[in-house]
Amino acid sequence: MNNLKSIIANCLSKRSTDELIATSKKSELKKTLNVFDLIVIGIGAVVGTGIFTIIGTAIQGGPEGVGAGPAIIISMVMAAIACVFSALCYSEIAAMIPVAGSAYTYTYATMGEFMAWMVGWILMLEYAIGNITVASAWTGYFVQFLKGFKHILPAFVVNFPMWLRNDYRFMLSYCDKFGLDPHSQMPYLFDKIPVAVNLPAIAIVLLLTLLLIKGVKESTRVASIMVGVNMFMILSFILVGAFYVKPENWTPFAPNGFEGVFMGAFLIFFAYIGFDAISTTAEETENPQRDLPIAILGTLIICTILYICVALVLTGTVPLGSIDIQAPIAHAMRAIGIDWFAGLISIGALCALTSVLLIYQLGTTRILYAMSRDRFLPKSLRLIHKKFRTPHVLTWISGIVVIICALFMDLNISAELCNFGTFTSFIIICIAVLILRKTEPNRERPFKVPFCPVFPILGIITCGGLMVYSMKFLKTSSLYFPLWLVMGVMIYAAYGYKQKRLEEQKRIEMQKKVERLIAR
Ligand code: ALA
Repeated sequence: MNNLKSIIANCLSKRSTDELIATSKKSELKKTLNVFDLIVIGIGAVVGTGIFTIIGTAIQGGPEGVGAGPAIIISMVMAAIACVFSALCYSEIAAMIPVAGSAYTYTYATMGEFMAWMVGWILMLEYAIGNITVASAWTGYFVQFLKGFKHILPAFVVNFPMWLRNDYRFMLSYCDKFGLDPHSQMPYLFDKIPVAVNLPAIAIVLLLTLLLIKGVKESTRVASIMVGVNMFMILSFILVGAFYVKPENWTPFAPNGFEGVFMGAFLIFFAYIGFDAISTTAEETENPQRDLPIAILGTLIICTILYICVALVLTGTVPLGSIDIQAPIAHAMRAIGIDWFAGLISIGALCALTSVLLIYQLGTTRILYAMSRDRFLPKSLRLIHKKFRTPHVLTWISGIVVIICALFMDLNISAELCNFGTFTSFIIICIAVLILRKTEPNRERPFKVPFCPVFPILGIITCGGLMVYSMKFLKTSSLYFPLWLVMGVMIYAAYGYKQKRLEEQKRIEMQKKVERLIAR
């Protein structure tokens, strides 16, 4: 019984906020990012697969859920509202505790060791699994881009083999669908194992891994070019497309009623994920107290306005049944007869997806870095590169995991899992604000959530509501999500818990030694 009590007490042990802030001050990471860099990171992380690819399924519906139709704009507002409350909570805590690790670190200060590990583990769904979705979508637009320039590029480049741009599961289902012999479509190892590799996805992830190892500042410079190109493309899509809008395409407005609007909101939420990546770079920010809240809210407002405009133009130019689900934005331009523009849109999409990949990998490594510093992961993982001063081992690991998973993981399932993970971390952040207001009422808060506790509670209700509602329909991902959680509990029990106790024991022994020395 005593044993159980001590295990529970250990799981609930918290890190003090002062200790966290002190650790961040000792950080070896360079402090180079300003508010502009942060907004670039924010928009770079937010605008991507969601608005360029997933919007198609959110409008039309997918294998496990119906679509919103033109009412996607309502879904977008719903998703944005769910994000605003969490964004405000993120801003309050990020400015108050400017430490690497995002929701993971904040949970450690509020809910204790076990929950902190679980949140870190859940954040891997958002960052690492989310990157699998983006890498797969990147290949899709890369192929579109090549096709857009088929008159200039040689045929073998435009039509390079399908087994070099898809995973083997896709290839098998493709052969099944069209009654093709898989042996004629891809090579087989020892005549038994089908070989298919998503080469463009692997190449881009490898390239970005090298770039991230070179340095954060260099990476955000690349991201800012990407963000510029992709903003330009989205704005031109809105401006050009607006001339082709036919209001009759907006009826029926909500063909699947509330169910469609809610499922649309759940899916399109993916398009908003990312602003929290800003807070993962808190230790590398010049003036986190002032810059983090401005960057987080600024990013969210800019993206919401853009998305609603894109959705209005997309649903206004293409009749509902004809909206594409792989490259809807580029396809809309092709549908109104401007082919070359569709090719250019693909370039914008590639830039957007590249910057999301970059920022997400940055987020993954920084969260893992914080978790390793807290002994949940081996120390050897957080080695800092001597020349570039970046966590190169973790950067390699996060890149390799995405590459391996991209060999077999489905785009939609990884997007849904990413959403589940993100909703959970948002809910936890809202709870953390409520707890910190009680436990640390006097700590300086450069930014405060207005109407607390109402706003954090609304954040919990909106995120929780969308998550629970969609679980009714999304059978596959709502099975994988609890499995991921169980895996997290097992790793904590087998490694993290023990390491934390060893660390405690060492600290106690050290303290005793010091006391003995003083007594002498
Ligand atoms: N919001 C990011 C995207 O849409 C995850 O790609």
